[in-house]
Amino acid sequence: VLLLTACGTSETSGENGGKSEEKTLRVVTDAAYAPFEYLDKGEVTGFSVDFINAVAKQAGYKVKIENVGWDPLFVEIEGKTADLAISSITINDKRKKTYDFTVPYFLSTNKIMVPKESPIKSAGDLKGKTVAVQNGTTGQEAVEKMFGAENKNLKKFENNNLAIMELKSGGADAVVADNTVVEEYVKNNPKDNLVVIEDTNAFEKEFYGVLFPKGSKLRGEFDKAIKEIMENGEYAKVYKKWFNI
Ligand code: ARG
Repeated sequence: VLLLTACGTSETSGENGGKSEEKTLRVVTDAAYAPFEYLDKGEVTGFSVDFINAVAKQAGYKVKIENVGWDPLFVEIEGKTADLAISSITINDKRKKTYDFTVPYFLSTNKIMVPKESPIKSAGDLKGKTVAVQNGTTGQEAVEKMFGAENKNLKKFENNNLAIMELKSGGADAVVADNTVVEEYVKNNPKDNLVVIEDTNAFEKEFYGVLFPKGSKLRGEFDKAIKEIMENGEYAKVYKKWFNI
């Protein structure tokens, strides 16, 4: 049992040889991204939590999810102080150089959220406007790609909730973030008078994957388990619970 924990990231749950007991994996996230991962009375909750619990169960593991924040979660995975991260993380080539991903489990794209009365009606209208994004996200990258990395009108925040607050307080003209997140925000906060712009071809299609340290042996087991829960109805159950479809 002790040998299994040699690199210090995981604890086994028993001293009885470990065979019948499930190993507990340390999972890190940035819980400021409802409905995927967010805090409810101090507890990390959301689609991602139910999803990763279902996958881990299928693979024969338990998970302990910790809200460490966005930038730190990458540091932890690179340093192997956590076993895996689930945080609506888009699979892309840049990240694949440093980390391993599972198969895709969720389709996403960036979208623009603005006040109802905003003159911004399409991605092109963002030119010269102040855009709030979460630092180190594909949303930041997409805006930089459109207007250049030196764009001084880009405001970067440690988490997406801070970017939304900046928009509400008038410090930014728009937020660019994952479609499901901004759509849910608009739906759940009608008093904020925000809307999501439908500009279908403005942003690329993205897929979320579970993030692992490069070379992690667990990755293959999780790939298999993800495919299994997609076939046995468990994924559909979690999806229905959060998205009602
Ligand atoms: N999907 C985007 C990306 O991978 C944003 C993810 C942000 N996730 C979060 N928990 N804040 O860059």
